[in-house]
Amino acid sequence: MRDSYLQEYFTFLRFPSISTDDSYAEKLVECARWLVEKLNGIGLEAQLVPTAGHPIVWAKNKHEPGRKTVLLYGHYDVQPPDPLDLWNSPPFEPVLKDGYVFARGATDNKGQILAHILGLQETMAEHGDLPVNLHLIVEGEEEVGSDNLPIFLKANRDALRCEVAVVSDTGMIARGVPTLSYGLRGVTACEVRVTGSKMDLHSGVFGGAVANSVTALARLLATLHDAKGHVAIEGFYDDVKPLEEWEREAWRQLPIDGDKEILGETGSPALFGENGFSTLERIWARPTAEINGIGGGYQGKGTKTVIASQAMAKLTFRLVPNQDGATILKLAHRHLEKHLPPGVTMQIIDGHSGPWYLTDPHSRMGEAAQRALKHAFSKEVALIREGGSIPIVSQFRDILGAETLLLGLALADCRAHSPNENFPLENFEAGIKMNKAILQELGRTGQ
Ligand code: BES
Ligand code: MN
Repeated sequence: MRDSYLQEYFTFLRFPSISTDDSYAEKLVECARWLVEKLNGIGLEAQLVPTAGHPIVWAKNKHEPGRKTVLLYGHYDVQPPDPLDLWNSPPFEPVLKDGYVFARGATDNKGQILAHILGLQETMAEHGDLPVNLHLIVEGEEEVGSDNLPIFLKANRDALRCEVAVVSDTGMIARGVPTLSYGLRGVTACEVRVTGSKMDLHSGVFGGAVANSVTALARLLATLHDAKGHVAIEGFYDDVKPLEEWEREAWRQLPIDGDKEILGETGSPALFGENGFSTLERIWARPTAEINGIGGGYQGKGTKTVIASQAMAKLTFRLVPNQDGATILKLAHRHLEKHLPPGVTMQIIDGHSGPWYLTDPHSRMGEAAQRALKHAFSKEVALIREGGSIPIVSQFRDILGAETLLLGLALADCRAHSPNENFPLENFEAGIKMNKAILQELGRTGQ
């Protein structure tokens, strides 16, 4: 691999493009500008598209009639790097160690989208053009729900019309095993705020007289699941499409031991989840309710004898076919209101929402994707679903009429969203090769 590729990768990773924290907004703009310059430099026409949030980078080649139009999508925003003290090297100072690059965004999604960009660069350099009409969209709000991207897609619906979308933002079943994902879970979020007294109180003077907001919230959150890991919200599973036997069987045949891998990677003392489903089934095809964060009361050193006035929790629900995010939020509101303990008030603030996605890996485009993956990794392709979410993918279908090919390059131990995120150069290189192959394959594939 060329030395310049690694330098560019490191430059891309040095931008702290944390989309969830507004104080980094300028850094996102700088990162987007760097991308525009890079893309113009390889012979595409790139522009920065401002939005109500972080800007979108949009690049295209010269479109020729009679060619297939392909949308390549990725994101330059990253998740916050905290907790910082668990990183072995600073999150925005990339290092290469034993063939792996360590930095926030190394896998999710800078490494993967840059591999595609370098694939485009090589094709442009070799042939002067691409075998397809290309739209490249790199957005800055994927990690916060892609709120502004649908507005851009709708406003440019005609200009962006395409036959297929290509995304590398999912995982590989195992190192070296090329993987095509044909499903994603959706996600919908809300925040619960519980208030008791109007201020924190002396727990000796008032303890026993009024409700403690933290206690109330803990009791409330404990009603979300039963002891067997089922979500206890009434109606939560009503719209869930049951897993079919052929799919369960296909997943049993995959070349991994899901339980062993996940136990090893998470470091949890035991696996736990909804009864009656294998671990992979629970991740890929079953919905969940998660408490992502919780707070309230005294969190400092030592003890402080107070009754907490306020407590809060952040919740997300992962959605599967055929659940609807708005319906699930409504059911969650109803459940929380019904189970709110006495003596406190509650406020629920709804957050972002993104639908699930399911497509056919054996469509003509799906087969083309499988050939490209096989070419890049020289191995049989695994067909899987994913537990994660990429909110915009279902909108490519709804707004642009395009199905999405999810050719992920992330490894299970890539530590996306966690400290010490990393990406093997092996996958970076394979990603470049895969990009060149998929565009050739799609260019050849008839309608
Ligand atoms: N790359 C992930 C999505 C992903 C992760 C797909 C693992 C498949 C396997 C993406 O960047 C992501 O983290 N998305 C968020 C979306 C959310 C914040 C709206 C997610 O899934 O939590
Ligand atoms: Mn991602």
